[in-house]
Amino acid sequence: GLTDVSALLLSRIRDVADYPEPGVMFKDITPLLADPSAFTALTDALAGIAERTGATKVVGLEARGFILGAPVAVRAGLGFIPVRKAGKLPGATLSQAYDLEYGSAEIEVHAEDLAGGDRVLIVDDVLATGGTAEASIQLIRRAGAEVAGLAVLMELGFLGGRTRLEPALGDAPLQAL
Ligand code: PRP
Repeated sequence: GLTDVSALLLSRIRDVADYPEPGVMFKDITPLLADPSAFTALTDALAGIAERTGATKVVGLEARGFILGAPVAVRAGLGFIPVRKAGKLPGATLSQAYDLEYGSAEIEVHAEDLAGGDRVLIVDDVLATGGTAEASIQLIRRAGAEVAGLAVLMELGFLGGRTRLEPALGDAPLQAL
């Protein structure tokens, strides 16, 4: 069964049919963000994962991973690092391309924000195919840092993201609330 926290979080996620296109069921987290007890419970749960995994930094994935990851970093007393879509960061970046269903995408991080010795907890709202998370793991490793774990609010299990990420994650935990 679900824990009380998971049940609360699930109750604040709105299913929107046929968005952004026909046949897709969109998971809208804005009701959760607008509810201070649910948002606090989520932040506390993710901060607990950061502490248990011995993370030294929190990486958030654009855009909803910023909303969730930033308060986790503050709560856990860690720095926050944005992984952005290509072309948004002004400094020296590392870039990682990855395949989408149609076409490809590219994400970037400021190289100076991560270093050897860092243990990074990656935070995002949804794990779907795992493409974004896989590319972010590659970015973090290329920056010389270690991945402490991946923590998401929701995992869409039928898309197989967990299986796809197993080789990349190794012993680092993937936790879905
Ligand atoms: C969504 C979601 C994850 C990613 C998951 O972001 O927030 O970051 O897709 O999909 P995947 O596991 O198949 O890679 P999106 O690309 O829609 O960006 P946004 O949050 O900026 O809208």
